Amino acid sequence: MRGLILYESRYGTTEDIVRRIREELKGVETLPCSKLSMQNIEKAEFLIIGSPIYFERLSKGVERLLKDTSFQEKIKDKPLAIFTVSFGRHKRYLSLLKRFLKRENILIEYQFRGKVWIFDRRKEEEIYEFVEKVRRFYGDR
Ligand SMILES: Cc1cc2nc3c(=O)[nH]c(=O)nc-3n(C[C@H](O)[C@H](O)[C@H](O)COP(=O)(O)O)c2cc1C
Repeated sequence: MRGLILYESRYGTTEDIVRRIREELKGVETLPCSKLSMQNIEKAEFLIIGSPIYFERLSKGVERLLKDTSFQEKIKDKPLAIFTVSFGRHKRYLSLLKRFLKRENILIEYQFRGKVWIFDRRKEEEIYEFVEKVRRFYGDR
C-alpha cells in the first residue's frame, strides 16, 4: 500500500468519491475512520483525509480521529492530502481539517461538491482534478 484514504460518510457521497479515487489511483487503500488501526498508518507512504460537512462542522468520526494525540504523533512526518465534501465550497471547511494537522505536511487540499452533483459530469471532473494533483506529488506506479 502506498497511500491510505481515511474518511467517514453518513449518506454515501463521500464513500462514492473515495471509491472513485481508489479506482483511479493505483496502490491506494481506503478505510473509514472507525476501522482504523495505527498499523495501517505506519504502512502508508502518504495519507488522504476526507470529511463531509454537517452543520458547518466536520464529521464526528473524522474530528475524533484528528484530535487523537497518538494519531497526531503517528502522522507527524506523513505527507497529506485533505478534502471536504459539502454543498457549499467555503475555505473555512478546509480550515476545520487544518486545525489539527501540521500545515507543512499538507501538500494538497480540495473541496468536492456534495450530493446533488454526485453522478454528473462535474463530479467526474472533480475526481480527475483531485487525482491529477495526487499523481503530481506521489506518482502512479
Ligand atoms: C444534516 C446535514 C447537514 C449539512 N450541513 C451542511 C453545511 O453546514 N454546509 C454544507 O456546505 N453542506 C452541508 N450538508 C451537505 C453535506 O455536506 C453533503 O450532502 C455531503 O455530500 C454529505 O456527505 P455524505 O453523503 O458522505 O454523508 C449537510 C447535509 C446534511 C444531511
